[in-house]
Amino acid sequence: MAQRQKTAQSQKKELEILLEARNVTKSFESTERQQRNTHPVTVLDDVSLKIAAGEFLAILGPSGSGKSTLLRLLAGLIQPTEGQVLFKGVPQYGTNPHLALVFQSFALFPWLTVLQNVELGLEAQEIPKTQRIKRSLAAIDTIGLDGFEDAYPKELSGGMRQRVGFARALVVEPELLFMDEPFSALDVLTAANLRKELLALWRESKIPTRAIVMVTHNIEDAVNMADRIIVLGANPGHIRVELAGLPQELRNPQREAYTQLVDLIYRVMTTPHQKVAKLLPAHTALTETGKLTPIAPSPKLPDHEVLPHVEIGDVTGLIELVHSHGGREDLYQLGRDLQLEVDELLPLIEAASILGFASAQEGDLVLTPIGNTFAEADVQEEKKIFKQQALVNVAMLRQIVDALQDAPGHVVPEEYFIDNLRQHFNENEAWSQLETAINWGRYAELFSYQEERGVFRLEDPEIAINE
Ligand SMILES: Nc1ncnc2c1ncn2[C@@H]1O[C@H](COP(=O)(O)OP(=O)(O)OP(=O)(O)O)[C@@H](O)[C@H]1O
Ligand SMILES: [Mg+2]
Repeated sequence: MAQRQKTAQSQKKELEILLEARNVTKSFESTERQQRNTHPVTVLDDVSLKIAAGEFLAILGPSGSGKSTLLRLLAGLIQPTEGQVLFKGVPQYGTNPHLALVFQSFALFPWLTVLQNVELGLEAQEIPKTQRIKRSLAAIDTIGLDGFEDAYPKELSGGMRQRVGFARALVVEPELLFMDEPFSALDVLTAANLRKELLALWRESKIPTRAIVMVTHNIEDAVNMADRIIVLGANPGHIRVELAGLPQELRNPQREAYTQLVDLIYRVMTTPHQKVAKLLPAHTALTETGKLTPIAPSPKLPDHEVLPHVEIGDVTGLIELVHSHGGREDLYQLGRDLQLEVDELLPLIEAASILGFASAQEGDLVLTPIGNTFAEADVQEEKKIFKQQALVNVAMLRQIVDALQDAPGHVVPEEYFIDNLRQHFNENEAWSQLETAINWGRYAELFSYQEERGVFRLEDPEIAINE
């Protein structure tokens, strides 16, 4: 009976909601480069999630899906355009003092010692100097930097500098610890070491932190560390699915449940336009707490074409590799063969499927008939097929060629296209989209682009758009 009461109590404690985002939307007004004709761009669309005491939440998602923006919103560093963030049920305005952030690379002040850098974490709080030093020394000790209090950042390795970052975050004894790709700038062994130590501190309650949220691009990190995993989709950023993490004892690459979960997340991330429900095996356990946040009911198709920023040579390489494996290959295996993380592989798959060369199906990349022909073609033939596929499938390239065909002298300034792109993307992304279109269009020999003058010129005014 006593035991049962205790369990009930601890369950109740587990579900105490520390932080909650309710229907949060974030748009940015473009401020960079030319200001005219800019439109606010939605970066996060209607995101709701809860963070409960006792949990370790991992957030995955392709580059640009708004992971960092979501963390900053939850931390109160920026305010939502719509919706609310609540800390323990109370709407949060401004930076949350009960929360600390660790970034990918930590900005340490080079002229301050380790101790002084850590003390900075307490600057905002009115704590007497002696107390500040005492707590900073304790944090330095906890994070394994004992003996380096008086060292300067330049004397430290990358891993040790990141430890200072952790100490600076932990010195405030935050209830919530947020980490934005905290290990991705470190070499493999240093990262593994720091990851292990951090997990030990957390699991053994050596730090008072009550919940951890980690943004990562590494699926295995998420599966190894998290109790709950959220996968964001892009354009605009939204929650695609929320999955239960594995029980502690199954977080081991030797276990089937582990490889299954890694594989499932891989499939979800490599098929951004597929309904997640279709990818889930029937027995997949969505989280208990997952009931707090529903799965996105349907995938949101971007309302405007989004070109992935990849070199066509890399797409060609991918298609040839799949072709050499008989026209079909497991995506996870492909990532391994190419030594690419999923967020590096994803844009290549996206490009191959936009161009009609391949499609992701049930965790495999499958070449289309034209994809197979392309892989077998010689260089001349390859260019011809690429040109055709690009014109038929890439709206942006078609628009450029159409405009050039109609323009006097077949010359059009870049402003013409960038103004249009600004309606769908922020300033930086609009230019990136144009740059990618230029690269693809040049590869396809559809047009030339003069960088100094910022103009497009038609290579071959007689070009036929014959599908
Ligand atoms: N202050 C800002 N002003 C305008 N646009 C912004 C701002 N901050 C972020 N964005 C845009 O919001 C989108 C999401 O950015 P964010 O950095 O949150 O993505 P992310 O998922 O963290 O990406 P990555 O994996 O590359 O770190 C991007 O298109 C980015 O350009
Ligand atoms: Mg980020």
